[in-house]
Amino acid sequence: MTKKQLDESADYLKQKGFIKPEIGIVLGTGLGKLVEEIEDPLVAHYNHIPFFPLATVEFHSGKLIFGTIEGKKVVVMQGRFHFYEGYDLQDVTYPIRVMHQLGIKKLFVSNAAGAINLDFKKGEIMLIADHINLQGSSPLAFRNVAEFGERFVDMGEPYDNSMLDKITKIALRENISLKRGVYAAVIGPQLETKAEYRMLKIIGADAVGMSTVPEVIVANHLQLPVLAVSVITDECNPDDLQPVDIQEIIEIAGRTQPKMIRLFKELIKEL
Ligand code: HPA
Repeated sequence: MTKKQLDESADYLKQKGFIKPEIGIVLGTGLGKLVEEIEDPLVAHYNHIPFFPLATVEFHSGKLIFGTIEGKKVVVMQGRFHFYEGYDLQDVTYPIRVMHQLGIKKLFVSNAAGAINLDFKKGEIMLIADHINLQGSSPLAFRNVAEFGERFVDMGEPYDNSMLDKITKIALRENISLKRGVYAAVIGPQLETKAEYRMLKIIGADAVGMSTVPEVIVANHLQLPVLAVSVITDECNPDDLQPVDIQEIIEIAGRTQPKMIRLFKELIKEL
């Protein structure tokens, strides 16, 4: 990755009219419907953006959408790149750097996740207050990282406290149950064994998924305040483990997203 490549990616989008977005939003698996709330949308397919990672066949629907929500300019990623698809972590996080280059001042990230904390139920939303990186690598582990910011990024407070407070108040007001916890990112794409679920509980995870942490690390690298939420799509009880059903995960994410959309829209209004 070079600065020139980032400039070219951003310039392509600026020419398309992606001018001065304030907020960047990453929509996770089954959580794409927020794009229907975007007024005057402009669309750029990932495959057309210079230097964007090349999408796999499975991933043809990936696009970046620019427009207005609640009076604010946003740029929304419908679909993300995952480490398990074979991209390296610089590729996975390249879109975050491009959105930053476009000028976003805040980042929202969402994902579907399994509950390790069994007080959390399918269809609930968990605010990510902290995380554990179990992907075995870092999106900052590359030679010329210092050209893009600090190499040794502080991760003592990776999630923006002021946005955490705001969304917590919004959830109370809107009567939406909102949990708060630690998200562990694994590589995947296989799900976890019972022994792994037990380990995740012991090390302090409340939810587990296969994304988000690389993006959050890069947001911190860019000193970009970030808010992240997990939609709980399955309950990972090692003593009563049900076979995973990806269709069910997508369906539960889909059913829960109206709550997430309400929270995000209210938060956008208040920023
Ligand atoms: N494990 C990992 N990723 C997931 C899960 C899970 O149980 N559920 C949704 N994404």
